[in-house]
Amino acid sequence: MYSNSGSIAPGVKPASKLTVPQIRARKGGSGGAAGPPLVMVTAYDFTMARLIDEAGVDMVLVGDSLGMVVQGLANTIPVTLDEICYHGRAVARGLTQAHLVGDMPFMSYQVSPAQALESAGKMMKEGAFESVKLEGGEDVAEQVHRIVRAGIPVVGHVGLTPQSVHALGGFKVQGRGSDQDRILADALALDEAGAFAIVLEAIPPDVAAAVTARVRVPTIGIGAGSSCDGQVLVCTDLLGMARGHAPKFTKRFAEVGDAIVGAMRAYADEVRAGAFPAPEHAYKANGAMDVAKDDRSSTRLRAVK
Ligand code: KIV
Repeated sequence: MYSNSGSIAPGVKPASKLTVPQIRARKGGSGGAAGPPLVMVTAYDFTMARLIDEAGVDMVLVGDSLGMVVQGLANTIPVTLDEICYHGRAVARGLTQAHLVGDMPFMSYQVSPAQALESAGKMMKEGAFESVKLEGGEDVAEQVHRIVRAGIPVVGHVGLTPQSVHALGGFKVQGRGSDQDRILADALALDEAGAFAIVLEAIPPDVAAAVTARVRVPTIGIGAGSSCDGQVLVCTDLLGMARGHAPKFTKRFAEVGDAIVGAMRAYADEVRAGAFPAPEHAYKANGAMDVAKDDRSSTRLRAVK
């Protein structure tokens, strides 16, 4: 239903999708028998998703970070289930091989296991997702278990959980001091509840290494060091499109933001100078119309008598 046949050349068989069992099998992925570390990145629209898929990324996340990246909000709290589903459908159309994960928005799963199951079901049916991700550990383990039992794969998320930004006092590193025990307990609870992967966000690398060694499923780090079984970044961060403060853990692999500003300036300059569009950008003349200037010098079309 959500195939992307328009982007595939005729006769070229689409690559097969990375499956949940294949992702689970990447536990311990650091170039050994489990293969290389998992690569995950966020996407919010079809065009970006298609480029990410072409690059061979393993997993694409429609993160609720879309609230900040796409909508310009201060945090992820206002993002709705309908918004996640809308972006999910767009991203799904761009993927031929990457596995598609969708973030469960704030208050779409915290109320009860039944609410969580209903929200996850909607995301699968209306958002075209192949798995869902939710934030929290022991306190959402029941929700994870209920969703998994219904046949919906779940990715957990512990450490810095942005939906709890106010309770945490800001977007801060977690797992310092005795707090590391809570993070380990949360990760173990998610593993026990049936999550097939766990995101570890903004925690010290030794804590991430300890969690990774203890859980049976792949850990996917963001600001959690290099011992995780995979890494995730926000696409606009790694592309160098973000402006202003960036978390310490992001790396700009390109300066696409500067390239966009440069291209926009060049376009604006050419339009203002009358250099664009040039004749090669115009269709062949109809021959039946004549362009004339009216009294106020605006261009209009006039039928040739
Ligand atoms: O919403 C998001 O983009 C995320 C990633 C940072 C893991 O949760």
